[in-house]
Amino acid sequence: MSLRTRLMVLTSAWLVFILVLFSTLLYSFFVGITAKSEKELLFGKAQSILENRKVHDERYWSDADLLDEFLVSDEMIRIIGMDGLVKLELQSNEILVVEPPHVTTRDSFSIKRIDKTRYLYVEVPIMSGSEQIGVLEIARKLTKWSLYINVLTTALILMSIGAVVVSAIGSFFYSSFLFQPLRQLNSTMQMIQLSGTFRKLDDEFMARTDELGKLGITFNEMISRLEELVQKQKRFVADASHELRTPLTIIESYAGMLNRWGSEDPELRKEAIDAILGESHRLKSLVGSLMQLAESEQEDWLRMEQIDLMAIVRSAASAMEVAFSRDIRIESRSDSVPITGDSEKLKQLLIILLDNAIKYSAEPVRIRVVALQQAVQVMVVDEGIGMEDKTLPFLFDRFFRTDLARTRQTGGFGLGLSIAKSIVERHEGAIRIESRPGKGTTVIVELPR
Ligand SMILES: Nc1ncnc2c1ncn2[C@@H]1O[C@H](COP(=O)(O)OP(=O)(O)OP(=O)(O)O)[C@@H](O)[C@H]1O
Ligand SMILES: [Mg+2]
Repeated sequence: MSLRTRLMVLTSAWLVFILVLFSTLLYSFFVGITAKSEKELLFGKAQSILENRKVHDERYWSDADLLDEFLVSDEMIRIIGMDGLVKLELQSNEILVVEPPHVTTRDSFSIKRIDKTRYLYVEVPIMSGSEQIGVLEIARKLTKWSLYINVLTTALILMSIGAVVVSAIGSFFYSSFLFQPLRQLNSTMQMIQLSGTFRKLDDEFMARTDELGKLGITFNEMISRLEELVQKQKRFVADASHELRTPLTIIESYAGMLNRWGSEDPELRKEAIDAILGESHRLKSLVGSLMQLAESEQEDWLRMEQIDLMAIVRSAASAMEVAFSRDIRIESRSDSVPITGDSEKLKQLLIILLDNAIKYSAEPVRIRVVALQQAVQVMVVDEGIGMEDKTLPFLFDRFFRTDLARTRQTGGFGLGLSIAKSIVERHEGAIRIESRPGKGTTVIVELPR
């Protein structure tokens, strides 16, 4: 069932319920009020009959004169014995005697419906002293009353049907108006699906101030984000292919040279083998970095445990000191700083930062650790070539390298800081860089404890 039909059915069903409820209430109210006066009339008549003392004596019950003067048209008066048998009966409308006699011990009344016409019956006990000897029953045809009730019932039914029809037609039109934006949303989505390009909702839709307008904002934001992501992904693939091409081309050309002249020229052979080895090494490290970036998107990338950050700092520093024969100073007030994190990834983070500091400076490099109440700050400080302000926002982009770095031929791919950022963010920390050209660079990493 479509949303529109469902809305129509629900509105109509609810209206039917309300109408039935109120009609029933109105009907019973009307019946109660009008029946009351008729009832009082018949009870009054019964009282007048009972005022005659002969009525309270069974011996006179065979005398029709006893009740004769009270009988009017469309009425029945009868006396019923305690055995349930009719003792005396007068009527001016014979349908009224069809109802079997009804013995009761107190005043009672009922409305009977025979052949679409209503009849009112009242019963009053006949007493002789303190003992009940019979029942006086009076019945009357409710001619006018029946008519009123029938008119009322017909009016209520017709009005209800009319209201439901009008409401169904109304909800058909307003639901079409209400669902128009949903149809627009749907067609935009279908267009995206069919054309394979991103599309946004138009200004008219976005001008709405209701819930659908908010939905539109979320939708357009989501599309922008997806567009951005896809764009980023495309650029990444293009950059990665480009970076992979360069070493492969070098390897290919040196392999070709080896093939042609390698057996004759030992000097060329040495140069070609060195170049092939160097480029293979670069290729391997590039593929390693790319794989790391891909893995960093996975849920279970980190193995979090309780670790000592100082131990990691010392181990990363000494590894880099050995590898590059450079001096790295560690500055910290405490010998041990316990935090929760992945020790392997944090060591890698430090190696990435130290690698940059060493590559882009000649002076000694420092690591400063400051333990705060809720967090710990790790700063990697160098006094090297530094960077210009305009490049700072792009440092964490994949494959980004500054011009200063490029001219130095230090051979990086521009992936180190992207990996560093992933590691810090997965630890729910933050990373930023402060730098001045010619003065040096400080990378500040803040990790929660
Ligand atoms: N300490 C630093 N001093 C000066 N420039 C830096 C420093 N750290 C990073 N940079 C600049 O930021 C760029 C990006 O750094 P990143 O570590 O991401 O890449 P890379 O070092 O060039 O290559 P990779 O780390 O992938 O081998 C570098 O190319 C360099 O231009
Ligand atoms: Mg680097």
